[in-house]
Amino acid sequence: MRRKEKAMSTEELFEKAREAALFAYAPYSGFRVGAALIADDGSVWTGCNVENRSFGLTVCAERNAVFQAVAKGRRLFTAIAIATLDSESPVGPCGACRQVLSEFMGVDAVVFFGGTGAERVTTTIGQLYPFDSLHELAR
Ligand code: THU
Repeated sequence: MRRKEKAMSTEELFEKAREAALFAYAPYSGFRVGAALIADDGSVWTGCNVENRSFGLTVCAERNAVFQAVAKGRRLFTAIAIATLDSESPVGPCGACRQVLSEFMGVDAVVFFGGTGAERVTTTIGQLYPFDSLHELAR
């Protein structure tokens, strides 16, 4: 019989985000970000920020992770960890990413983020993006 996998801790997920940030393409800002998502089947999906010389085309780590997972058939995520390698303190997801995350996460899904220091922020998408129309309609 297959042993049930132990659920990944937020710190373990954060470590995956940190590893993903090493692939960031951020020559313009010098600000490397990684994100790691857990899907409802337990699979983990990562992304990094990818910048462009036409600055507005930059894609954040969080949206990159979501799009990679959705492109492989996952549509519901229970947690995301976000790691920045170039800030000591935690940096939360931008407004555009909060909107995209809310499309594929329930209000109570965990958002966990940190920088190179010891400080971590643990919150939920419902707290970061309150009164979202999709979440409100689901109530
Ligand atoms: N960035 C992310 O990837 N995620 C965030 O949560 C904050 C910002 C990226 C966008 C850009 O490449 C760089 O960080 C500086 O803003």
